[in-house]
Amino acid sequence: MIGGVALRVSSPVLVGRAAEAGQLWAAFERAQAGSPATVVVAGEAGVGKTRLVAELIGRVRGQGALALAGGCLDVGEGVVAYAPLVEALRSLIGAVDPAELERVLGGARAELARLVPELGPLEAGAEAATGAGALVPGRLFELLLGVLHRLAGRGPLLLVVEDLHWADQSTRDLLGFLVRNLRAGVVMLLTYRSDELHRRHPLRPFLAELDRSGRAERLELARLGRRELSELLAGILGEPAPAAMTLEILARSQGNPFFAEELLAARGGGDGGSGELPEALRDLLLARVEALPQPAQRLLQVAAVAGQRVHHDLLAEVAAQPSGDLVELLREAVAHHVLVAEDDSGGYAFRHALVQEAIYDDLLPVQRPPLHAAYARALAALIEERGDAAAAELGRLAYHWYTAHDLGRALLASVQAGQAAEAGFAQAEAAGHYERALELWEQAPEAAASSPLDRRALLQRAAQAADLAGAHTRAVALISQALTETDDDAEPLQAGVLLERLARYQWGAGDTAAAMAAVERAVAIIPAEPPSAERARALAAHGQLLMLRSRNRAAQARCEEAVAAARRAGARAVEGHALNSLGSSLGRRGHLEAGVAHLQQARAIAAELGDPDDLCRACHNLGCTYLDNGRFQDAVDAELECLDLARRFGAIGGYGPAAIATAAEALLWLGRWDQAERLVSEAFDLDPEPKAMVTLLLPRGLHRLWRGHLEGARKDLNWILERSKTSLEPQDSVPAYAWLAAEATWAGRPEDARATVAAGLALLDEVDQADLVAELCLAGLAAEAALAGRAVARRDEKARGQAARIAVSLLERARAAAGADGVAVTGAVRAMLLTAEAERTRVAGPGDPGRWAQAAGAWDNLGCPWPAAYARWHLAEALLEAGAPREEAAAPLQQAQATARGLGAAPLLGEVELLARRARIALAPEPVAGGDATKPAAPGDELGLTPREKEVLALVADGRTNRQIADALFISDKTASVHVSNILAKLGVANRAEATATVHRLGLNG
Ligand SMILES: Nc1ncnc2c1ncn2[C@@H]1O[C@H](COP(=O)(O)OP(=O)(O)OP(=O)(O)O)[C@@H](O)[C@H]1O
Ligand SMILES: [Mg+2]
Repeated sequence: MIGGVALRVSSPVLVGRAAEAGQLWAAFERAQAGSPATVVVAGEAGVGKTRLVAELIGRVRGQGALALAGGCLDVGEGVVAYAPLVEALRSLIGAVDPAELERVLGGARAELARLVPELGPLEAGAEAATGAGALVPGRLFELLLGVLHRLAGRGPLLLVVEDLHWADQSTRDLLGFLVRNLRAGVVMLLTYRSDELHRRHPLRPFLAELDRSGRAERLELARLGRRELSELLAGILGEPAPAAMTLEILARSQGNPFFAEELLAARGGGDGGSGELPEALRDLLLARVEALPQPAQRLLQVAAVAGQRVHHDLLAEVAAQPSGDLVELLREAVAHHVLVAEDDSGGYAFRHALVQEAIYDDLLPVQRPPLHAAYARALAALIEERGDAAAAELGRLAYHWYTAHDLGRALLASVQAGQAAEAGFAQAEAAGHYERALELWEQAPEAAASSPLDRRALLQRAAQAADLAGAHTRAVALISQALTETDDDAEPLQAGVLLERLARYQWGAGDTAAAMAAVERAVAIIPAEPPSAERARALAAHGQLLMLRSRNRAAQARCEEAVAAARRAGARAVEGHALNSLGSSLGRRGHLEAGVAHLQQARAIAAELGDPDDLCRACHNLGCTYLDNGRFQDAVDAELECLDLARRFGAIGGYGPAAIATAAEALLWLGRWDQAERLVSEAFDLDPEPKAMVTLLLPRGLHRLWRGHLEGARKDLNWILERSKTSLEPQDSVPAYAWLAAEATWAGRPEDARATVAAGLALLDEVDQADLVAELCLAGLAAEAALAGRAVARRDEKARGQAARIAVSLLERARAAAGADGVAVTGAVRAMLLTAEAERTRVAGPGDPGRWAQAAGAWDNLGCPWPAAYARWHLAEALLEAGAPREEAAAPLQQAQATARGLGAAPLLGEVELLARRARIALAPEPVAGGDATKPAAPGDELGLTPREKEVLALVADGRTNRQIADALFISDKTASVHVSNILAKLGVANRAEATATVHRLGLNG
């Protein structure tokens, strides 16, 4: 790439391009088989031609094959003939040894040395010719062909000639000759910039001729997509770029990797936001424009003021050119690939957005306002003539008036544009237009006075649109402004409405405590009589927050009150809203059917009224209700529907993360982990605010936990718990505590798990939701079982007694939550309770196979493979401990292994396999992914220990007695003691302490 900037860094990994690299490699394989191949790679400047070619060169050389490369230079026709061939031949000198060079050059050496003096020495008496003029082209072509054929005789050869758009006539002729006449295993790889080829470019006939010959294939390199661009940025930064940064760079670079690198470098590594174009990039972008005649350049300046695209009529109006001239200039701009004519819109677009940006930036500040004003007038006339306007046109109109400094017209146009955007569910845009109108409010008082929406309405609409777009913090700021401008005493209904909205946005922004205070104030200041929609709404909002705090019984009462108040006031929307929360709180207490019925009623009302917020909310809460009750597939379906609705109503920023998080968690329980992971990564692209991050980190943390990326799980879950306590809801914090405790148990830190569970339990005082309580207690029981096992090994009766006591209280707590007044026990809670009972038997002594079998069956019924496999692992263990025959334990263990392996649940698989080894139960061997991979030597192999002895040794090092070793491995005491003496002999040590020291010294303890 030309004009590079010193600071720019590239991604060390090649991003995307798998298909393209495959196509090139296939051509190379043909050369390996002895046939010639030619591939022409085309693409705009900076799209990655050189990078792709470089990867191929690397791969070819990696195979020990020869790759020669040269590039054409941007120096104009006829100055350096054959420049790329000269460069390629020069690289031959170092690539083969001198005798070999002599052989392949053969009789051509002397003549080629005129082109490439380094190939000398020249024959005695021959004149040293500096240019190519002394060579007869036909002869040179034949000589080179001979050399290439001889080189290909040694093995496949790759010959790269880059940047053909700058090639001189002689080079083009030579390449054409080679393509036609090569008969051996040579791949010719030619590249050129497609955006350099104007209509009369001399490369055009050359390419047409190649196409006709049928001897060359074409490869068009397109720009990178969004995913690839994020990967590119992550490759450069060494970590994923923030979503907002990725979006901005994607929008400006439009997927061109060179532009993306430049834009990233210009930010200086920080996230200082979009700024001016880097100078080097601007120069590069403008170079093509500056090659055009002056009148065309002026026209492009006018077009750039319109934006990335411009309608023909508008451009004609503003440019004020005679129409024949205008068309001529446009043709020129199109031929030079600056503009692209768009058939469907009847206008033109800048081929690259950055070119428009660069031209616009290059205008003097005084040049811009009159042009914007001209566009505004032209657009207004067009709209008036047509009698209606698209939302986007109104947005452009507002923008042009604003940049033309006509503030009054800008204000009115912004209000109109905001209304149109809102009607089209473009929430983020609507919020932007309303905020612009608010910004101008004081500066253009006359226009403000005639605005169809007053200031408070504007603040309210801006806040609502911002909230739906996911900008909850902004929504809080806007509605708070409206509140400071409203007097509680004079306008209690108005103030109550604003407070209710404030509560909603504060909740979205993650400040639940503040939300609760706001909504309580709303209920307090709105009088109960006469019945009002406003009061009903405040009550409904209060019920909703109580539900979200998992105080479901209180929520239910408040919501019932709200439904009644709404009906009295004839407030249908509020009725729907209250029914929604009522259904959710019923569902959270196990009354699935009643809950779903209320939620469906709420959804029908929202649909009838066309309220996007409540419609999305009803759908999302249905999903949550199904999830809480263990109806995982229904949860996925409801949330995917919610996602569709959110997309349709521009509320993807507001509802997307929550819907995705719930769907992903359900998918995890269902064992569809890859699908869950894909969904979650999609949600991170939405640049979620912290509250939404919390919901997303939950499924990601659980997935990481189950997969065995324990450190990642810990990070995700801790991040959640580090949010302030006031902002976290039990539905978020309780699972975070439970899974964090599970992580600690899996990582061998059951004491930490115990502490984590205790911290979580402290938050459950007001929570009347059995699934949350059971989940946390279950995590605690697993930790106590691990602690009890450890206490037994250490013969620490006191510790064991403590674990047993805590386990009993955890079990009682879970049972109490499930048995509380008005709570129904659903499938999910039942499965958790059964597992909890089974875990408790492990604390008290050997596990109870019957209970573990029941737990496994309960999870099977819910369609949850991971917990079922977990239960089967313990089932097998309990059977072995109870002295059951190996075959009986083998079945559940094999089943657990198959599930864990299929899921990629590494920690569980590890435990299952460890138990199998100890009990000498044969499991299915790990499928080997082809090849004859020989196993790397395991530590300790050189000591001649058998695998069994290594297991015994590990237990010895853990301080276990022969008795305990026998128990752990399901062997007799006698066998254990024989193993131990053999080991001591093999290690050449006198006692167990020395053996332990050896283990640590040699790192045999893994
Ligand atoms: N697929 C890719 N993965 C990672 N980096 C890429 C990729 N494609 C291009 N780049 C980077 O983008 C920059 C521009 O790429 P490159 O120089 O290959 O473009 P080009 O098409 O050869 O441009 P020119 O026409 O100017 O020669 C380089 O720094 C390159 O490393
Ligand atoms: Mg290049």
